[in-house]
Amino acid sequence: MFAVTASSIASKVSSRNVVVFVEEDKFSFLPLSKKLDGAVKKKITNVLEMQNFKASKGKSTALFGLDGDGVDNVVVVGVGKAKELIREDWVHFGISVGKRLDKLTFKDIAAYVGEDNDTACAFIEGFYLGAYRFEQFKSKPLPACSLKKLVLLAEAEVVKELKTSIPKTVALAEAQAQVRDFVNLPSNIANPEYLASEAKKLKKLGLSVEVLDEKKLAKLGMNLMMAVGKGAAEKDQPRLVIIKYTGAGKKEPYRALVGKGVMFDTGGYNVKPGKYMQGMKADMGGAAAVFGTMRAIVERKVPINVIGVLGCAMNMISRDAFIDDEVYTGYNGKTVEIGHTDAEGRMVLADAMAYTIDKYKPSEIIDLATLTGAILVALAGKYGGLFSNADALSEKLLASGKKTGEQLWRMPVDDDFLAKSDIADMNNDGKPYGGSSVAALFLKQFVGDTPWAHLDIAGMAMADKASMAKRFPSLEGGTGFGVRLLVDYLESEASK
Ligand code: BES
Ligand code: MG
Ligand code: ZN
Repeated sequence: MFAVTASSIASKVSSRNVVVFVEEDKFSFLPLSKKLDGAVKKKITNVLEMQNFKASKGKSTALFGLDGDGVDNVVVVGVGKAKELIREDWVHFGISVGKRLDKLTFKDIAAYVGEDNDTACAFIEGFYLGAYRFEQFKSKPLPACSLKKLVLLAEAEVVKELKTSIPKTVALAEAQAQVRDFVNLPSNIANPEYLASEAKKLKKLGLSVEVLDEKKLAKLGMNLMMAVGKGAAEKDQPRLVIIKYTGAGKKEPYRALVGKGVMFDTGGYNVKPGKYMQGMKADMGGAAAVFGTMRAIVERKVPINVIGVLGCAMNMISRDAFIDDEVYTGYNGKTVEIGHTDAEGRMVLADAMAYTIDKYKPSEIIDLATLTGAILVALAGKYGGLFSNADALSEKLLASGKKTGEQLWRMPVDDDFLAKSDIADMNNDGKPYGGSSVAALFLKQFVGDTPWAHLDIAGMAMADKASMAKRFPSLEGGTGFGVRLLVDYLESEASK
């Protein structure tokens, strides 16, 4: 692991390796990068011209052995047109530099990035995303990343701000990396008990953690969650994990975050065909994001109260598994007829949310779930789907999405989408069209009047070739989607 520090642009640059940012138009350097020694600048420009390098947005190249005054090696990042840059772009630049650095043997590097505090933080977020690897199952992993020090060169007054914002950003980035690990871990390791035991480790950060096991869940009447999870082996039985963070004093109300933690989704008796089953270890991406958000907000000391709930189960096939036509009564007394055992996520969330609302009376509830393939059809993995009964909450989440680059798009939740049942209050199956709204309407039956937002993050939690990979060319596997979005949202709420 490397350390991140900030250094004033006025003092001597301590590293012989630097990252500079260049505009498309005639290789003009961004203001801070301009402060490079003129001789070096000239050399960089010459080599770029020789390479016929196009400094379009996000394109990067590395120049070695320039032997300039104080600078040997340069990573050049094209920014396109500087005027059009938004914060998200700096995350992308960070990703591409982080990815590149992971493969080079530099021990340190300095980046001319601190035009302002927020830009620098966005770059760090991206850098961690790009430098991330998941290699624990390789018997011969690649050599460890050699980087020991990332220095952000900034204006003196920005350096002051960075002194406090760097540790916070690193905490966020490390939380997101842990979320990515969870998503990438296969379910023969990451089962419900695994996530529960990882959550218990959060106690040492000052969070309170409670785990309800299958016996307690059955006793409490969480029969929808149990229906999904009861087909799994004894060691893989459901867990409801409740993580409590009191950052604003006991008198303040709590907000709730609830995550779908289906550690593997076979589809149940309505079994998924192979090509759709692959990757379903990531069906706990919502729960993982809630976990990471809780970890990040305690480390960043956000003055707010939040309950994070992880609904963990495995959707498996056995003689005890749930089957079509059965009827189950949820924690809130509503009855559900099973029309499809692959529509399991909504059942887990239904009980987890009804219980959270009943027990903790949160002022609002946000759930995150890899809930429907239909959201990928609609939004292509470019946006997560946002479904909500609360306009103000929606607006704020959309704004945080824009800011962090973890973007959402609002979708309809009209009552017409509810899947009806002849014999019970509702059916868990989809209808042929609008599957994501149908799922959202199911969830809506379990939140009552509480302001609620449901984020359907199927296709966002895990980058595959068809979805996220297009937007973040260097992100593979688990993405950690949701952590930066939620932390930004909670922080802007706390600062009110
Ligand atoms: N976990 C899946 C949704 C999913 C699909 C996540 C693709 C990530 C990528 C969910 O449990 C599911 O199977 N949904 C069904 C619902 C249907 C049976 C009503 C779907 O989307 O097909
Ligand atoms: Mg399913
Ligand atoms: Zn699922």
